[in-house]
Amino acid sequence: MSRFAEPQDPDFASINRSLDFDRRLWPYDVAQSRAHARMLAAQGIITAEDRDALLAGLDAVEAELRAGTFPFREDDEDIHMAVERRLTELAGPVGGRLHTARSRNDQVATDIALFTREAAEEAVERIEALIAALTDAAEAHLDWPLPGYTHLQRAQPVYLGHHLLAYVWMLARDRERFRFVAGQVANLPLGAGALAGVNFDTDRRMVAAELGFTGVAPNSLDAVSNRDFVLDYLSAAATCATHLSRLGAELVLWSSEEFGFVVLADAWTSGSSIMPQKKNPDAAELLRGKAPRIAGHLAALHGVLHALPLTYNKDLQEDKEHLFDAVDTLRLCLAASAGMVRGAEFRRERMAAAASDELIAATDLADLLVKRGVPFRECHGIVAGLVRDAVTSGRRLSEFTPDELRAHSEHLDAETYDVLAQRSWLESKVSEGGTALPRVREQLALARALLDG
Ligand code: ARG
Repeated sequence: MSRFAEPQDPDFASINRSLDFDRRLWPYDVAQSRAHARMLAAQGIITAEDRDALLAGLDAVEAELRAGTFPFREDDEDIHMAVERRLTELAGPVGGRLHTARSRNDQVATDIALFTREAAEEAVERIEALIAALTDAAEAHLDWPLPGYTHLQRAQPVYLGHHLLAYVWMLARDRERFRFVAGQVANLPLGAGALAGVNFDTDRRMVAAELGFTGVAPNSLDAVSNRDFVLDYLSAAATCATHLSRLGAELVLWSSEEFGFVVLADAWTSGSSIMPQKKNPDAAELLRGKAPRIAGHLAALHGVLHALPLTYNKDLQEDKEHLFDAVDTLRLCLAASAGMVRGAEFRRERMAAAASDELIAATDLADLLVKRGVPFRECHGIVAGLVRDAVTSGRRLSEFTPDELRAHSEHLDAETYDVLAQRSWLESKVSEGGTALPRVREQLALARALLDG
C-alpha cells in the first residue's frame, strides 16, 4: 500500500534522489545496520534468528556492493532505501525488520558522522606525510640562502630550511583543526529516530561502542539536525587548502625561469601541446585553483543550514556533495603537495645569487647605526639615501668608498663592509624563531617532535 494515488513526477524523482552521490556511503550504512541489528536482538526487540538472517543478508548485500554487481534501480531514492530493498530481496521479509526503531533521519546523520570521522582522520595522516616531506626538505636545505619577500619584493635573506618550515607550522595548525573535527563526531546520532526518540528500549551505547563512538547524542532533535561537524570539516579543509594554495603559488613562481629557484619533478609537471620547451607546473597551479572551491563548499553549507527550522529537512541532503567534493579535493591537494615537495630539486646558486643582492642588507645597515646610538627612524632615512645613491649610480653598496659612506653618516665606518658580507645578514637574526642557523636547527627539532606525539 502507498499513501499516494499518483506516481512521482519524473523531475520530482530526479530532484529528490541522492543515490547518485550518496552511494559511496554504503560501507557506513552496512556497518551501522549490522550494529543496529545486533542491538535490536540484544534488547529482545527482534529474535536472534531474525538477527542472524539480517546479518547474513547484509553480508550478501555488501559482497555485491564491493564487487560492483549491486543491482541499483532507477527508483532507489538513496543508498539507505537501496540497501534495505536489496536486503529484503535477498533475505526475504525479515529485511523489513531492520528499520525497526530507526529512521532515515538518524541513519543518514550516522553515516555522515562515520564518513566525516574517517575523512578527518585521513586528513591528519596526509597532513603528517606532508609535514614529514617538508621537514626532510628543510633539513636537506637547512642553510641555503634565498631572499625572503614581502610584497613579492626582496626583503631580507632567509635560509630555505627556515622558509620550508614555515609551511610545517601552518600544517601543524591544520592537523589540530582536523583532530578537533574528529572530536566533534564522538557522539552517535543513531537512536534519535525521526526526531523524538523511538518507541523501544534501545541500547544506543552498545551501537556507539561497535561503531567507534565514545558517547551518544544527548538530544534526539539535535542529533538528526546537526551537521556542525560537516561545517567543521569544511572549515578545516578550506583553511588547509588555502595554505596549500600558497605553497602552490610559490612553487609556480619559483619554477619559472625568472626565479629559477626550483625544478619540479617530471612526475608532477606536464608539457605543452604546442611549445616543446615548456614544463608546466600544473599541479602547483591547481593547488591555487582548487582551494576556493573548498571555501565555496563551506559557504554553501552555511547557506543550507542558515535559518533551517529543526529538525530534519530535506535541505540537509545537500550536505553531501559539498562534503564529498571537499574530501576528494583535499586528498588530491595534500598528495600533490607531498609529491611535489619530495620531488623538488632546489637550485642553490640561483637562490644564492638572488640573496646576494646587497640592497637586501638595508635593514642590517640601519641596525648597525642603531647600535651606534642613532634612533631607528633616522637610520632608516640614512640608509634610504644610500640605497637611492646605489640605485641611481648603478653601484653596489660595498663599492662605495669610506668617504662616500661617511658623507651619509659619520657612523658608517669600516664595519659597514662587514655587514655587507652576506652570511652576517642571516646569522645576525638570532631572535627565537629567526633565520640564524642555530634558531633554524631548534625549529627543525620542534618540527620533528610534531610527528612523535
Ligand atoms: N537521502 C536523505 C538525505 O541524504 C536521507 C534522509 C531522508 N529522510 C527523509 N525523511 N526523507 O538526507
